[in-house]
Amino acid sequence: MQDRIAQVRAEALAAVRAARSPEELEQVRIRYVGKKGELTQLLRGMGQVPPEERPVVGRLVNEARDAVEAELAARQRELAAAALETRLSAETIDVTLPGWAPVLGRRHPLTQVLDEIKRVFTGLGFEVVEGPEIETDWYNFEALNIPQDHPARDLQDTFFITEDILLRTQTSPVQIRVMEAQKPPVRIIAPGKVFRVDADVTHSPMFHQVEGLYVDEGVTFGELKGTLSIMARELFGQRPVRFRPSYFPFTEPSAEMDIQCIICNGAGCRVCKNEGWLEILGSGMVHPQVLRNVGYDPEHVSGFAFGMGVERIAMLKYGIDDIRLFFENDIRFLRQF
Ligand code: DAH
Repeated sequence: MQDRIAQVRAEALAAVRAARSPEELEQVRIRYVGKKGELTQLLRGMGQVPPEERPVVGRLVNEARDAVEAELAARQRELAAAALETRLSAETIDVTLPGWAPVLGRRHPLTQVLDEIKRVFTGLGFEVVEGPEIETDWYNFEALNIPQDHPARDLQDTFFITEDILLRTQTSPVQIRVMEAQKPPVRIIAPGKVFRVDADVTHSPMFHQVEGLYVDEGVTFGELKGTLSIMARELFGQRPVRFRPSYFPFTEPSAEMDIQCIICNGAGCRVCKNEGWLEILGSGMVHPQVLRNVGYDPEHVSGFAFGMGVERIAMLKYGIDDIRLFFENDIRFLRQF
C-alpha cells in the first residue's frame, strides 16, 4: 500500500509539471485529487488496510495530496504568468518604429484645371451646365451648321452608334440644347467628355472640353476678347495673348486665341514649334444660322462662343508632353500636382 501511494504521488507530481495549459492542469487535478481521483480513491480504500497501519497510511496519503495540491497551485501560477507574458509581448507597441503616414489623395490635374476654369467663369457670371455624351447628328453637327461633307462627319473621325446617334465629338452641342431651352440672356460654360477616333501622344479617343456661350442683345467681339483675355491671365498669369482669324462652321467671324509660349517667352522653342505662340482655344461670334436653328432672331441678339481642350491647357500649364499620362493614373505622376 505504501509503495502504491508513493507511486501515485510521483506520477501525479510529474503530470502536474508536464501540464502545458490551464486546461491540461485541470485534467491532472481531476485525475488525481478530484472526487474520484486516484489519491482520493486511496483514502476511501482505507477500510482494507489493517488497523495498526492506518495512521501511517492515512498520513502518507494526506501528505501526498498536500504535495500534489501545492504543486498544482505553483504550476497554475507559472502558467498564468506565462500567458500574461505572451499577451503583453503580443500587445507591445514599439514607439521607435516609423509610423504609417496617412496617405492623402489629391485632385487629378485635369480636375484642378477644370476647377480653375469654372472659378474664373462663375466669377464673371457664367453658369456651369452639362449635356449628354451620346448625341444625335442634329445636335452635334446639323444644328451647328456643320455641312454634310464636313470631314468631322467621317467615320474616320466620329464614333457613330447608329447612322444618327454618336458619341459627341465636341461640347458645342450643349450650346444648342441650352438655347433651345431658354431665352437670352444666356451665359454658360459646359465642361465634359468628348470622343474622337484619334490616338497618339497628344490625342486621346476620349478627352475633355469646356464650351462657353454668351448670347444677349448687343454682345460684341470686344467682349469675347476681354472675357477670354481675363481667363488666359487667370490660368497662365500675365503674358501676351493674340487672336488669329480662323474658321468654324458655327461662328462668324471665328478666331483662335494664342498665348505667348510659356517655355521660351516668345523666342521660339520645340514646344511652340518656333512660333513663339501656343494656341489655347477656338472662338467666334455665334453664326446667325445657329441662332435661327434654335429660334433666336439674329437681328435682335448676338453672342460669342468658345471651346477649349482641358488636357491641352493642362499639358501647356504643367509642361506635360504625353496626354496618356492623364489616364494611366500612375501615382508617381499624379503626386506631382
Ligand atoms: N467645337 C470646336 C472644336 O471641338 C471648338 C470651338 C471653336 C468651340 C469655336 C466653339 C467655338 O464654341 O466658337 O474644335
